[in-house]
Amino acid sequence: MTAPHRRPLIAGNWKMNMLLKDSVDLVRKILDGLSSPPAEVIVAPPFTALTVVSELLKDGRVRLAAQDMHWEASGAFTGEVSGPMLKDAGCQAVILGHSERRRYFGDTETTVNKKLRAALAHKLVPIVCIGETLEEREAQRTFRVLETQIKGALAGFAPADLASVVIAYEPVWAIGTGKTATPDQAQEAHLFVRKQVAGLYGDGLAQGMRILYGGSVTPENVDTLMSQPDVDGALVGGASLKAAGFLRIIHFQTPVRN
Ligand code: 13P
Repeated sequence: MTAPHRRPLIAGNWKMNMLLKDSVDLVRKILDGLSSPPAEVIVAPPFTALTVVSELLKDGRVRLAAQDMHWEASGAFTGEVSGPMLKDAGCQAVILGHSERRRYFGDTETTVNKKLRAALAHKLVPIVCIGETLEEREAQRTFRVLETQIKGALAGFAPADLASVVIAYEPVWAIGTGKTATPDQAQEAHLFVRKQVAGLYGDGLAQGMRILYGGSVTPENVDTLMSQPDVDGALVGGASLKAAGFLRIIHFQTPVRN
């Protein structure tokens, strides 16, 4: 179970799914089913649904995130969406550097770093995604990859700047594949990430930083993942699109320790 000073966070990344009507239906059902969850809850609908979903989230029990942003505030960047636009649409958080953005849309350590700077400047809680591919894991390069991604994303900040940052460890081989990392694999990676952050920015920041696991999280496996000491929450893709399953994930259960 996560340390008591880190509030667990469960975030649903809807990716490129959900028309407006489906978005409204899903959010209404999530709100109806919430009963003092052990975690903070975030949903990340596609850009087109942000404003309608925002209207439904006014009581603050569930917070709103976007799935990406541009680093400039405005200008000639056709197709992009900026931090002020996300704030205007009601977002409090933003996912950055998702592996699908890195793989299909050219996000790099440099652009993720710029986006992080912009997110913090606009007071959006950044959820920075990192994770190795299967090839990298099999070549024993997992830790090297994570180190490079962490150093790249977090370069050039002071520790105090990064207090709100959330990291999401999402092994690429576990995303959308049904092959979840084992709780031990997740714990090992999360502990490594926390130690890296401690080495770069000090133990104070690292101990407070929430590290989420992402990759085929389901109602069936969330409890054991969340029982790991350095797993502070989950970034959920497919299983966040159905209210009943997402609600079960939000209300995860970990054994009570005496
Ligand atoms: P799945 O839960 O569908 O594997 O997706 C994980 C993910 O990429 C969340 O950002």
